[in-house]
Amino acid sequence: MTLLLTGIGELTTNDDELGTLTDAALVIDGDRVVWTGPSSSAPAADTSVDLEGRAALPGWVDSHTHLVFTGDRTAEFSARMAGSAYRAGGIAVTVAATRAATDAELAAVIQRHVTEAVSQGTTYIETKTGYGLDVPQEVRSARIAGPLVDEVTFLGAHLVPQGWNAESYVDLVCGEMLSAVAPHVRWIDVFCETGAFDGVQSRAVLEAGAKHGLGLRVHGNQLDYGPGVRLAVELNAASVDHCTYLTKSDIDDLASSETVATLLPACDLSTRQPLPDAQGLLNAGATVALASNCNPGSSYTTSMAYCVATAVLQMRMSVSEAVRAATWGGARALRRENEIGILRPGSRADIHVLDAPSVTHLAYRPGVPLTYAVWRKGERAR
Ligand code: NIG
Repeated sequence: MTLLLTGIGELTTNDDELGTLTDAALVIDGDRVVWTGPSSSAPAADTSVDLEGRAALPGWVDSHTHLVFTGDRTAEFSARMAGSAYRAGGIAVTVAATRAATDAELAAVIQRHVTEAVSQGTTYIETKTGYGLDVPQEVRSARIAGPLVDEVTFLGAHLVPQGWNAESYVDLVCGEMLSAVAPHVRWIDVFCETGAFDGVQSRAVLEAGAKHGLGLRVHGNQLDYGPGVRLAVELNAASVDHCTYLTKSDIDDLASSETVATLLPACDLSTRQPLPDAQGLLNAGATVALASNCNPGSSYTTSMAYCVATAVLQMRMSVSEAVRAATWGGARALRRENEIGILRPGSRADIHVLDAPSVTHLAYRPGVPLTYAVWRKGERAR
């Protein structure tokens, strides 16, 4: 069954040869894009939809979320807005609530946020464990998330739980916990930060994950300068996320590596941190991704459009840099850039149509819900 989308006013493909097309069309067959080009030469299809000049782009790729949680941290947020600092320790509040939830409650929370994200144009979502922090709870988090999102990351090393010292907990994460969780996940991550895990402990976690065949991701340089970026680059992690405090040498390391710098501006705003140096990274030649970091503590939003608007208005990324970072950049951060975050024959049919003639409207009309239609794996999702 083929579907022709025609009358696309502006089609962002993220493909270097195709570029951005005007008055374009696109054909979907099953879950794949099979044709893109000018509306005037579009082939016939079983059905068609005229988008009447609207802009279309790849669905958002949200490469960093923490959706396996329950509980509420409004009080912590309000205290921050009144001047308190964000601290990693708030994670423990969500751990207690999450441990007390039933499987059905956790699944419902994940599904609710995935549905909310998809309705705003997100078509590919990674999520992390990390609010369980013991063997059965981390396995449970990964097992419940697996069928509800596109990719799952093991973040047992999110915080040292109460009653443990860091060294014994890292041993648990690298040993029994990793063996139990690894079959359910593609990635391992560690929160490399003062108050969470230091460089030595983070290296141990990542190297243990690599031995189990997991890909590597790092939370690094979120609250201060530190070893996270350096470690991520040295171990060829797919992504180092946050990157709020970067030295010149961190930027140079990222620029000469395959590691994506994933920026999380909604988190920086919600935790009253400075915004990261996106232009410094891009000028140096690093690959940048934007993600929501949806979680109840530091960034409670699923809106990738908000992240894109912030990146443009406050981080001085151009609209096309920000859109590319929230689509292709996220795909690259998940090492899936040949299949998602791109619209060309063979790619996954993940398409976001805006009720606007160009992607510029994402920053020109910030806060306005511009999503008009979404196809996810070729199926109409909105
Ligand atoms: O990416 N930095 C560590 N983890 C999350 C925050 C989690 C929380 O505060 O609950 C983040 O910001």
